[in-house]
Amino acid sequence: MHMDIDNKLPVHVGFIMDGNGRWAKKRAMPRTFGHKAGAETLRTVIDECRKIGIRYVTCYAFSTENWKRPKEEVTVLMRLFDEYLDEAAARFDKSRMIFIGDKSRFPEGLRDKMLRLEKDTASIDDFTIMLAMNYGGRDEIVRAARALAAKAASGEIDTEDIDEDIFARELYTYPAPDCDFIIRTSGEERLSNFLMWQSAYSEFYFTDTLWPDFGKEELHKALDEYMRRKRRFGGV
Ligand code: IPE
Ligand code: IPE
Ligand code: MG
Repeated sequence: MHMDIDNKLPVHVGFIMDGNGRWAKKRAMPRTFGHKAGAETLRTVIDECRKIGIRYVTCYAFSTENWKRPKEEVTVLMRLFDEYLDEAAARFDKSRMIFIGDKSRFPEGLRDKMLRLEKDTASIDDFTIMLAMNYGGRDEIVRAARALAAKAASGEIDTEDIDEDIFARELYTYPAPDCDFIIRTSGEERLSNFLMWQSAYSEFYFTDTLWPDFGKEELHKALDEYMRRKRRFGGV
């Protein structure tokens, strides 16, 4: 074993779950068939992460830009999220569930389920699942700026006191630590507005595997690679 490698599991792993549509297309099926298969992968991956001792997982399920998709696809996705949350209550009973993103745009029933799950799991702290739904990294940063501007205007804080820590407190992910490792499937090598602030020093892993085909084996391969990386954070 080399002395200069970290060899530690990431505390916080982010998943950009991409490629559901292409997976379905390869099978001459509608895109939504891929989303159903992708939901199954998400269950497997979350269970495995918890089993091996990762503390936080953030999964990008729906971006602020995904509303641009055909109405039919968005409708089916909302239905799948709804079903997923019904099941999540039983399946992830030992996990804290947090929904990051702007909930206000979701149908009321779905929003209520999110709030309920957050409330019911709020006291759990050994494993946290953050589902990014109607999430955008820029939106998150703009909201934080707005919240701080309001606090400064009302005299609650001093503009001079705003620093990175105070800023981070206004983010959806607070108090979770920054993301250590970001895995994106399907061959695309971009962030697509995921965790922009929290990924400042993330390690990235890209694989051509489409999300529905991603599984335990590939997760372990990715984590092995992470543990061989040397993180410097600007130091030497
Ligand atoms: C990711 O798969 C899931 C969501 C964005 C909801 P895609 O639906 O983006 O699949 P591709 O990229 O079109 O294959
Ligand atoms: C990113 O995937 C969002 C999610 C995985 C939810 P997209 O498929 O929307 O990203 P782009 O459009 O290829 O960048
Ligand atoms: Mg995509």
